[in-house]
Parts: sequence; C-alpha cells; structure tokens
Amino acid sequence: NSDRLSLSSSAGSALGAFPGTRMRRNRRHDFSRRMLQETHLRPDDFIYPVFVHDDNGAATREPVAVGSMPGVHRYTIDQLLHVAEQCSALRIPVLALFPVIPANLKTTDGKLAADPEGLVPRTVRALKARFPELGVMTDVALDPYTSHGQDGLIDESGYVLNDETLAMLRQQALVQAEAGVDIVAPSDMMDGRIGMLRQAFEENGLIHTQIMAYSAKYASAWYGPFRDAVGSAGNLGKSSKKTYQMDPANSDEALREVALDLQEGADMVMVKPGLPYLDIVRRVKNAFGAPTFVYQVSGEYAMIKAAAQNGWIDEKAVAMEALLAMKRAGANGVLTYYAIQAAQWMKDEGGLPPA
Ligand code: PBG
Repeated sequence: NSDRLSLSSSAGSALGAFPGTRMRRNRRHDFSRRMLQETHLRPDDFIYPVFVHDDNGAATREPVAVGSMPGVHRYTIDQLLHVAEQCSALRIPVLALFPVIPANLKTTDGKLAADPEGLVPRTVRALKARFPELGVMTDVALDPYTSHGQDGLIDESGYVLNDETLAMLRQQALVQAEAGVDIVAPSDMMDGRIGMLRQAFEENGLIHTQIMAYSAKYASAWYGPFRDAVGSAGNLGKSSKKTYQMDPANSDEALREVALDLQEGADMVMVKPGLPYLDIVRRVKNAFGAPTFVYQVSGEYAMIKAAAQNGWIDEKAVAMEALLAMKRAGANGVLTYYAIQAAQWMKDEGGLPPA
C-alpha cells in the first residue's frame, strides 16, 4: 500500500529536523496552486441534456420551466436551436435529447419511440442541418413513450420483458441513427442491448454511429426531478425499476456490466448517478481504461439549486467542485444540466481556451 509507505518514509525523515516535508509550501501562492493542479475542467468535458417537446400553441410559445429543476426548461425544436447555438459558441461538444411526450400519445408498447417522423428524429435532423459541427446524442429507452413509465415492454404482472424490449429498442435506435444522430445512448439496462444495436447498425451500414452505454446505471432515487421533466413519474406510480437497473449496494457487478458492454461493442461507457457513485467511476476507469462518462443526474442538480436558493451554499463554488470531482475520479466527461452555466462561468473568468 503506497499510502502507508510514504507515511513511514516521511516519519523517518521526521526523526531529523521536523518537518522533513512541508506540504503547504506548494499551496502558498496562487501561481503555484495553478501550476500543480492535477485535474482541469473544460467546456469540452460537458454533455448538455435537454428536454424537447412539440409545439402545441400558446402553452409552448415560451420554454416551459421544469418546477423541480430551476433553470431547466422544455423546449420546442425551434427554441432548441437557440440553445444549440449557445452550446456551439461555448464549445460544449454534445447535446443529449430527451423527449417529452403528451400522455395521450403514450401506449403500453411505447411504439411511438420507433416513428421515423417522431419528435426525436425530427429534432436530430433539425439540429444536424443547422449545426453540423455540434454532436447530438439520443436516449434509447421506452420510458418517455410508455403509459406505465417503464423502460421496456411489460407482461401481465408488470415485469419488464428483456428480449421483447430489445426488438423495440432496435427499431428506435435505427430510426435515430438514420436521422443522423452521432451517438446513441441506451439507458434501458436490458441485457444484450449493446451487442444487438451494434449488429443492427453494422447490418444497416451505419458503421459510424457511436454507442455510449449507460453501463452501470443504478436504480436510484436521484432521478426524481427527471421523471417530472419527461412526465413519467405519475405513470410509474409506486412501481420501481429495480428488476433491471442496478442495486446501489453493488460495485463488482458494475465491472461485469461494463465488461459486457465493451465486449458487445460500446464505444464509451457511463456510470449514473454521479457524485454518490464516484467510487464506481474510479473502479471502471482503472479496470478498463475505456472512455468513461458520468451523469450528474437531475436530483444532484436539484439539491445544489435548492440549497443555493436558500442561501445555504455558494452555487457556483459547489457546482464547479462537484464537476471537478467527477473528472478527478476518472471520468472523461460529464452529462450535466450545469453545462451551459459552467461553461459560461469559465468564459467569464477567462478560462476558456481559444477556439
Ligand atoms: C430513462 C432515463 C432516466 C434518466 C435518463 N434516462 C430516468 C430513469 O431511469 O428513470 C435520468 C436522468 C436524470 O435523473 O437526470 N431511460
């Protein structure tokens, strides 16, 4: 154990003149602290998750605020183009799309997920036409489209069916890839979905579509505000996602999930949620050295916002520290609702590297 070794060697030198090592010397001046900083945040580290809905008249003339996520809105496609422009200007590399589907269009099989003229493929086409240099990522999962709020198809008992769901996810992902999305991100946690999608893409000549696998996605209570934002909370009711998302108690199991997803053809893997799961991020990074992302989820964002609104914490300092901690833990990048705000803060401080 290296910690123990360095402890005993500094104790050894302390036998002479104490202290042999003054750790505070390097921390005295700002120049020195900057020079010795091991981890840095850049706007390139961020993926910005956004909620998109269809225009239906007066109610959507302005972006619609999400109550449990201050500063987060549901946008129409037109409004989203302005957000994309901001991302582009701030050098945020990727937008991640999450659709909000009206309750009357949700079905038990969530088949709207595979409609080539659906909200998501239309949004992808609009974004790629206007901002071809901006990366676009889409979620592969049925929960925005199902009347029961689960990520897949269910049987009479409410159990989420694996292989039947895969068939639906295949159609959903092909529609997204054909619309020109850069990265698909399966967040459903069905077994075998990465291999199935990779094969479907290969068979259809879609060899460039990247897959970012939600590999270690936990059955977490931190997703609450997101479910309000996409309107699946009410549908889900008291049922949980514990038969497919991971048990927060488990860590070895996360490594098995990541190993399978990489073997099945994932280009990048993800751990979700973020701050309470940084031990998992570090283990995954150490074990595989693969591009590893982490999702600072809605509940993490809401907690910082709520405490800041009460004047209990310094929002900017806490948010930036949380994001930095994710990189320090080994993440290559972070999905965060703070992306625009954080990039703006960096720019205001002159910390943005020249384009
Ligand atoms: C669902 C999905 C969820 C999130 C991203 N995709 C919620 C869930 O699994 O219930 C959560 C994101 C967040 O909380 O910010 N496929």
